[in-house]
Order: sequence, then C-alpha cells, then structure tokens
Amino acid sequence: MVILGIESTAHTASVGIVTERAEVLGLATDMFRPVRGGIHPREAANHHVEVLPGLVRRALDTARVRPTEIDAVAFAQGPGLGPCLRAGATVARTLSLVWNRPLVPVNHCVAHVEIARVLSGMDDPMLLYASGGNTQVIAHHSGRYRVLGETLDIGVGNFLDKLWIALGGTFPGGPPLEKEARQGEELLPLPYSVHGMDVAFSGIYTASLAHAGRGARRPDIALSVESTAYSMLTEITERALAHRRRESVVLGGGVACNERLRGMVRAMVEGRGGTSFAPPPSLCVDNGAMIAWTGLLALRAGLSVPVKASAVDPRQRTDLVPAPWRRL
Ligand code: ATP
Ligand code: FE2
Repeated sequence: MVILGIESTAHTASVGIVTERAEVLGLATDMFRPVRGGIHPREAANHHVEVLPGLVRRALDTARVRPTEIDAVAFAQGPGLGPCLRAGATVARTLSLVWNRPLVPVNHCVAHVEIARVLSGMDDPMLLYASGGNTQVIAHHSGRYRVLGETLDIGVGNFLDKLWIALGGTFPGGPPLEKEARQGEELLPLPYSVHGMDVAFSGIYTASLAHAGRGARRPDIALSVESTAYSMLTEITERALAHRRRESVVLGGGVACNERLRGMVRAMVEGRGGTSFAPPPSLCVDNGAMIAWTGLLALRAGLSVPVKASAVDPRQRTDLVPAPWRRL
C-alpha cells in the first residue's frame, strides 16, 4: 500500500509518500518564512496554495510513483490555522476525487506521535510531543491517545520563537537559539514552572526579557532558557513514566530536534533503565510523511471519509480523536 499525505496546519506545506512498512519514498517540503515577526494565517495559506501542487509533483517524482499507484490521500484535519488547514484539505479532496481514492483525515498531533513511534520500533512508549503550538506528555489507552500533562499557556516552540524574535532574531527561533546556547557560560535565574504534570512558559519569557533589559549576554539567556524549559519537560515526562509504570520515551515534534532536550530526556530515561528515541529532524518538524503514515493506520482501521464529511477542525485535540489501530 502507498499513501500520499498532505501537511499544511501552520507554517509548513509538505507532501509525503509512504509505504505500509513506513518507508518514506518521497518527501517535499516548503516552509513559509515571514520577513518580520510571526505568522499571519492568510499569508501562510496563500503560500501553501501556491506551492502545494508543485510539492505533490516533486514528491511523486522522487518516490518514482505514478498517481495510479497511490492507494489513498491523507490530510491534516487539525489542529492548526483555519486558512492553512483548508488549503491542504482542498488539495487532498481534489486528488481523492480525481484519482478516485479514499480520503483520510488525520490529527496533526497524533501524526507527530505515530511517525516517531514507528521509527522507534517501540510498541507502547510514553510520548513527549514538543512542538510549536503543542507541548504534551501522551500515552495510549483504550483506543485513544491520552494527554497526561501539557503546557498551561503556549507551546514550547512558540515560546522559543517569540522569545528569539523579541531578542532581535527571526522565525523560527528554536534552531538559532540552540546554537546561541552552545556559547552560553552563565546560568541566569528563571522561573521553573511545573504544576503536577503540566508546565508553563510565560514566566520564563518575561524574566528572560528582563535579563536582556539589564544587559545579560544573549548566549547566557539562551543557555538558561534551554536548561530551564527542557528540565521542566524532562521532569513531567519522568513523573508520567513513574505513574504509568513505563520505561521508555519517544520524542516527537519540532522541538524534539533539539540536542539538549534529547540528551536530558535520554539521561533521565537511561537512569531509570529504559531507552529514548527521537526521529531524524526532517521527520520531527512538520512533514507530509507523518500524515501519510498515520493516514495508512487510520485507513486500515476503516477511518476514511466522504468529501462532504471532511471539514477541517482548527481546535481538534489529541485526546478527542480515535486511534483504534493500536492493540492496547
Ligand atoms: P504543532 O505541531 O504544535 O502544531 P508546529 O506544527 O508549528 O506545531 P513543528 O513543525 O512540529 O511545529 O515544530 C516547529 C517548532 O520547532 C518551531 O517552534 C521551531 O522553533 C522548533 N524547533 C525546530 N528545531 C528546533 C531546535 N533545534 N531546537 C528547539 N526548537 C526547535
Ligand atoms: Fe507540528
């Protein structure tokens, strides 16, 4: 079976082609980068409308797959920015009708989790999904992914992006902030905000800007922000492991590209006798392959829909969609 998946929830338009053995045959991605400031949904959607047809062609070409060989078309139904979601869904509906193939809606967060899980080879790990808009500790139970802990304000990636822009940088902020943090020497005090299995980042944001206002070096701010924020994520993941009696952790989402976060989670998990895994960066950030792979799981579970029932859902939560393809 070969599935084509379309991602367009936020800044990234991407088309992936994946087989039932989770081989990524083709992946074509184009990220909208605003010249200044954050993302305007309408501008990002216009970008996606422009680039998606070419990305479909490029993904098919690299995969060396003809349209007639595609068995189904999957798309990200939510959560995300309405205009961006609709751009991807429209392309997916069109391909499904023209190629006469099933249309499969996929939850973007579940897709981050499923691509990471299949690549890890682990059956039932604890999942730390750390991305732009979301930050959740997740475990599967009774046909659904359950959110055990999450951010109480903004996603860790959006927090890093916002902070980096406020410190004079451009979007996205996570990768340059990681580089800058490597030059950091001094740990500055920042609010450590863990509430049970939840976290919050707005206090660190305010305190970081206050440090900047007092003339702190940007590498020191970056080092302190990474150390504090990722310690918080590692702590809530460890708490979830202890409560749910699991050993291993799989990381997903764009912030899971970060070496410091990977290292901190690895040290914690190995200290408890388990293992941790994170996908290669191209499959941590938004990508069409994760949508295609999760679409394949959903299709096998009978979750395709007619076009008229394929509306996007900008607020669709991880724990509100069924994931019945898992045994547990
Ligand atoms: P969501 O999945 O919640 O809808 P998203 O789709 O916007 O969010 P992803 O593409 O999964 O997010 O991740 C993008 C985020 O990852 C950005 O905020 C970016 O700054 C962050 N990111 C990417 N690389 C790194 C890195 N090396 N270190 C820290 N953050 C990173
Ligand atoms: Fe994402």
